[in-house]
Amino acid sequence: MTTTARDQLLSADGVTVRFGGLTALDDVGLRVAPGSVVGLIGPNGAGKTTLFNVLSGVLRPTSGTISWKGGPPPGRSPHHLARAGISRTFQGLNLFPMMTVLENVVAGADRTARGGPVSLVTGLGRHHRDERELRARAEATLRRFGIAEFAARLPGTLPYGIQKQVALARACVADPELLLLDEPASGLSGQQIDDLARQIRGFSEHMAVVLVEHHMDLVMRVCDHIVVLNFGRVISTGTPEEVQADPAVTEAYLGTPAEDTATVPRGGGSAVSDPSHSDGGTR
Ligand SMILES: Nc1ncnc2c1ncn2[C@@H]1O[C@H](COP(=O)(O)OP(=O)(O)OP(=O)(O)O)[C@@H](O)[C@H]1O
Ligand SMILES: [Mg+2]
Repeated sequence: MTTTARDQLLSADGVTVRFGGLTALDDVGLRVAPGSVVGLIGPNGAGKTTLFNVLSGVLRPTSGTISWKGGPPPGRSPHHLARAGISRTFQGLNLFPMMTVLENVVAGADRTARGGPVSLVTGLGRHHRDERELRARAEATLRRFGIAEFAARLPGTLPYGIQKQVALARACVADPELLLLDEPASGLSGQQIDDLARQIRGFSEHMAVVLVEHHMDLVMRVCDHIVVLNFGRVISTGTPEEVQADPAVTEAYLGTPAEDTATVPRGGGSAVSDPSHSDGGTR
C-alpha cells in the first residue's frame, strides 16, 4: 500500500546536510506513521543524530523538506516542538544538573504552558494554579515511571539507569504524539534494556516513536519499520526481518563482503555505544 506524506505524522524527503566539505546526510527520506516505532540504525558516524536534529527542528537541512502532519514543520525552538507534540531525548542525558529530578520533569511539561520553559521553573509569568497543575502532572509522570522516590534528588547523585528514566520521563510528561529517542539503551544493563523494550512498545500505544539505537536486539524487538543509514545514505529500509536479511546491511556493519555473512549481528552483537558521545545537543 502506498502512503502519502499526508497519511504520516512526520516525513522527511530528500534531506541533505553538509558540514563544510562533509556530507553528513545525502538525499535521505523517512516516513513515520502515527503509533509506529521506526528504528534508525547504522554504524558510528552514519548520520543518525544529524537526521534526528533535522527531524526535531534543531538543525536546518542544506536541502530537502520535513513535513509534520502533512504541513510545514512546527518551528525550531524546543517550545514550539513541545507544543506541536514532538519530544526528544538526547544521546547524552542532557538533564539540568542543578535542578532536582522533579524540576527537570516539570521543565518538560511546557506543552500547555503559557509562559515558556523558564517560567515553568521560576514560576514567573504564570498563574500559581498552572504551576500546581504542571507539578502534579510531573509528579504523576514520575510515579508512572517508577521514580517518584527520587523526586527531590539531583540527577548526578543517582545511578545512570535512573537518570535515563528521568530523561525519558521529561520527554513523555507532555504526552507527545512523536517521541524521538537517541540511544536510550546506551549504558544500560541487559535487564534494564528488557524493561526499556517493554516501555517503548507501551509508548507506541499513545504515540509514534523514532528510535536511534546501536543495540540490535532492542531494535529488532520493538521496531515496526527500520531505516539503515551508512555514510549519510539510506542503504536499506523495511521490517526488522527484511533489514536483517539485507546483505547491504551486514556489509555496512561488519565491513565484509555481503556473500560472506548472512545476518546482521543479533543479541547486542553491535551493542558498542558510547554514552558520553555528544549530539551537539541544542536544547
Ligand atoms: N556539527 C557538526 N559539524 C561537523 N561535522 C559534524 C557535525 N555533527 C556531525 N558531524 C559529522 O557528521 C557525520 C554524522 O554524524 P552523526 O553524529 O550524525 O552520526 P551518528 O550516526 O549519530 O553516529 P554515532 O552512532 O557515533 O552517534 C559524522 O562524520 C560527524 O563527524
Ligand atoms: Mg549519534
